[in-house]
Amino acid sequence: MTADELRSKYIEFFKARGHTQIQGKSLIPDNDPTVLFTTAGMHPLVPYLLGQEHPAGKRLVDYQKCIRTGDIDEVGDPSHLTFFEMLGNWSLGDYFKEGAIRMSFEFLTSPQWLGIPVERLGVTVFAGDEDAPRDEESAAVWRSLGIPESRISYLPKKDNWWGPAGATGPCGPDSEMFYDFGKEPCGPDCGPGCSCGKWLEIWNDVFMQYNKTSGGTYEALARTCVDTGMGIERTVTILNGQQSVYDTEIFAGIRGAVEKAAAYRYGGDEAKDRSVRIICDHVRSAVFILGDPKAVSPSNLGAGYVLRRLIRRAVRHGRKLGIEGPWLNSVAGAVVEGFKGPYPELAENQAFIMEELDKEGEKFSETLQKGEHEFEKLLPNLLKDPRKIMSGRLAFRLYDTYGFPIELTEELAAERGMTVNREEFDGAFKKHQELSRAGSEQVFKGGLQDHSEIATKYHTATHLLHGALRMVLGDHVAQKGSNITAERMRFDFSHPAPMTAEEIQRVQDIVNEQIRRDLPVSMEVMSLEEAKAGGAIALFGEKYESQVKVYTIGDPSAGVFSREVCGGPHVDRTGVLGSFKIQKEQSSSAGVRRIRAVLNS
Ligand code: ALA
Repeated sequence: MTADELRSKYIEFFKARGHTQIQGKSLIPDNDPTVLFTTAGMHPLVPYLLGQEHPAGKRLVDYQKCIRTGDIDEVGDPSHLTFFEMLGNWSLGDYFKEGAIRMSFEFLTSPQWLGIPVERLGVTVFAGDEDAPRDEESAAVWRSLGIPESRISYLPKKDNWWGPAGATGPCGPDSEMFYDFGKEPCGPDCGPGCSCGKWLEIWNDVFMQYNKTSGGTYEALARTCVDTGMGIERTVTILNGQQSVYDTEIFAGIRGAVEKAAAYRYGGDEAKDRSVRIICDHVRSAVFILGDPKAVSPSNLGAGYVLRRLIRRAVRHGRKLGIEGPWLNSVAGAVVEGFKGPYPELAENQAFIMEELDKEGEKFSETLQKGEHEFEKLLPNLLKDPRKIMSGRLAFRLYDTYGFPIELTEELAAERGMTVNREEFDGAFKKHQELSRAGSEQVFKGGLQDHSEIATKYHTATHLLHGALRMVLGDHVAQKGSNITAERMRFDFSHPAPMTAEEIQRVQDIVNEQIRRDLPVSMEVMSLEEAKAGGAIALFGEKYESQVKVYTIGDPSAGVFSREVCGGPHVDRTGVLGSFKIQKEQSSSAGVRRIRAVLNS
């Protein structure tokens, strides 16, 4: 079965069961300043999961493009991807556990639909803890459908709970469906959910029962909902008896383009195969980000930074495969070709995609060339060392001054029979991180000169302005700097063009609207990972402590307006800010705009 066939079957199955097909949304979330990318099909549906009526009804189905970069370092193995497609069906206060599980089971096992043998399936359900009980109800439904107890794993929150980690919003226990590859169990505890390679998760039914409040408590939702997500790439893999998502027809054209550019046949050498897989994944993600109607360009912040990392990592692996000259476009062309059916925006934006890939590929090549040139200059001295060890300090200089990646310095050194003192490099790198952290604290102090009442008000106004700018101009807007005195605030942010008078007015109105709503401002301490997973804005490239403060503006049960990692302090409620007025909007530097604004009581 192909991805196109799976998409159609899924939609057809759920339409026949009363679901309305809705459009998948942009990869760059609408009006949500708190996340960089759409990470699941439920993301655009959060307001409806929290109680709003959806115009298309109580039963919905769609396919959604998603990006998750949390696992970027694992990409290259058989199943991890940064971009993937998710099929989803939703019940907004309609069917719940039994209805959802029965439909999932029928779609998976009925010969009319996917026809997966029941004995190849295993499931997990929530084991229960102090926040919510063990999910016996779901387990009983699975048993009644013929899944034996030995193939039902009861797992804790970390595995069987879906919702905003460490943050607020709709959440609840889930039940995940796994395909058994038929390998020997890795031990007595090997069951569905085990990561040994025997089991592959293909679908997740989430039972939204709670709203996690900013106080960390779980309040029952007035209306329970179901949110499900089936991974297209993984499901196609198992339906075709394959082991890796990269072996499926989904990647055939893309992989072929990489093989051609590299003059290498996949399947010969594991290290090279891994590079091929990384290129396939990263170029596909980059094409989807650039092809999105709300595309961002490569940059050093936010979504643009993720895009830059994906492209540069692909180029680096291209070098490992010995690919010469510009090649990204040939692989990107295969992505557009393969996906323009379900995602016509890729063909519409093809020229932009290619242009941006060219530009970024070239920029990175220059970086690499400069670094290599410097390395060559150092070489005569390096070769004098009888131990053939390049100092970590020098390697760090290449990194610090030219942005030359340490892995490449190591490669160049290895070509000359040398090694790099990695320990010394890591030491210098760490020191650099500490210094820049101290530096950013200095900047922060400069940004917020005092903690007086008025400065604190301006600081909260900065978060409102940041959120409003992202709503009006788009998620490419990222804070580049801020400076506050008792008289005014100044806020620098990335945006390519002057704002129109209308945009300025809208931003000002949105900020004043949030002040008028007298929204609560709350703070939680959590790990940076939790903060990001919960959708808080954190400055990319900024170095944070392992535990950070996250400030949320807005009542989580009614939808938050802003959530940022920030040292504070802030006012308790937005109502005290008075009225907000933008006095000036001007250029600050290339691609950066500056707003000067005041608060009047
Ligand atoms: N939102 C759930 C997931 O992504 C379905 O797994």
